[in-house]
Amino acid sequence: MTKKIDHGEEHDTSPSSTTNLDDDASYLSHNANLGKLICIPMALRAAIELNVFQLISKFGLDAKVSASQLVSKMPNASNNPNAAMYLDRILRLLGASSILSVSNRMDSGDHFKVNQNNGGAGGPDAVVTERVYGLTRASYCLVPREEDGVSLVPLLVLQSDKVIVGSFFKLKEMVMEKDVVPFHAAHGISIFEYACKEPRLNKAFNEGMGAFSAVVFEAVFKYYDGFSGIKELLDVGGGIGTSVSSVEHVEGDMFEELPKAQNMLLKWILHDYDDEHCVKLSKNCWNSLQVGGKVVIIEFVVPNRLVNSAETFNALNSDLMMMVVNPGGKERTMFEFNNLANAAGFAKTVPFLISESLHLIEFHK
Ligand SMILES: C[S@@+](CC[C@H](N)C(=O)[O-])C[C@H]1O[C@@H](n2cnc3c(N)ncnc32)[C@H](O)[C@@H]1O
Repeated sequence: MTKKIDHGEEHDTSPSSTTNLDDDASYLSHNANLGKLICIPMALRAAIELNVFQLISKFGLDAKVSASQLVSKMPNASNNPNAAMYLDRILRLLGASSILSVSNRMDSGDHFKVNQNNGGAGGPDAVVTERVYGLTRASYCLVPREEDGVSLVPLLVLQSDKVIVGSFFKLKEMVMEKDVVPFHAAHGISIFEYACKEPRLNKAFNEGMGAFSAVVFEAVFKYYDGFSGIKELLDVGGGIGTSVSSVEHVEGDMFEELPKAQNMLLKWILHDYDDEHCVKLSKNCWNSLQVGGKVVIIEFVVPNRLVNSAETFNALNSDLMMMVVNPGGKERTMFEFNNLANAAGFAKTVPFLISESLHLIEFHK
């Protein structure tokens, strides 16, 4: 007997208590749904590597474009007679997943054709059409913006990097054995050590963080005016400084001592560490913060009610990613952030919702 949590309530989903699971077809369709979970991210990554989203946008943001049209813009694919057919099969899965729009139009030329009436086998009644794809709300963010060239492509490229994906194969060990960090188990060193040694991952990491920072800060400035009047903001663990403009780089270990500052920013830092490290770091912030100053934390917050929503998936996907790559890494509920703040001596916390589980939380001294 299995139970699932749905909208905060428990439902009995055992086969004997449901009508659908009694019939074989429904049982198989559930299986197909589970099986697709690996194919969509892999198809998405391939489409990104093939520059599909930017190519579609070059036909126009509302354009509907066939695989053949896209392949004609890919010089490296010109020697492969099957390129359009393979690309179409990648794209139709993204279409079915609403990452692209998908529709049919009468074939207009000598393209890879889709035979509507009989699954492609040909025949006298066949209507020859071509499948065409367009951008959707989900894929607009994968097209570099005209004004600044920003898109979320670098973040997806980082998250689906083979070094990261390879670490997920060690998730089972994490459950079965003590003190396993999947990234470390897969590669023998921590992700930060790996990034120091391997320029490719380092570049992917910085570009992924930079792209997401640009988008996040746009939303932050839209919904939060707490930075106005702030003259000094220390970006703790700021990496290469993509979050805050006009930065002065200060080297040092944030777990040792921090420079004195009026206000501080901790963006995507706490979720890299367990509670013990977070309390230590928060105490270091408290010690170096001027009286009346605040630490601005930007993190996903795990919602109390877990439902099938962008809010829940943003937080839980990120939580699993943190669990896989960092020792003790995790996303937290607001209750857990309040506990961290209290343990470090902060007087109060003030949360602001930015977007679908992404929060800005002020820790006030
Ligand atoms: C997840 S990244 C976040 C970077 C940046 N805050 C952002 O949001 O784009 C974590 C950053 O913390 C830095 N970091 C890790 N350990 C550190 C330490 N002990 N002291 C200072 N920075 C550290 C890493 O170099 C990395 O740039």
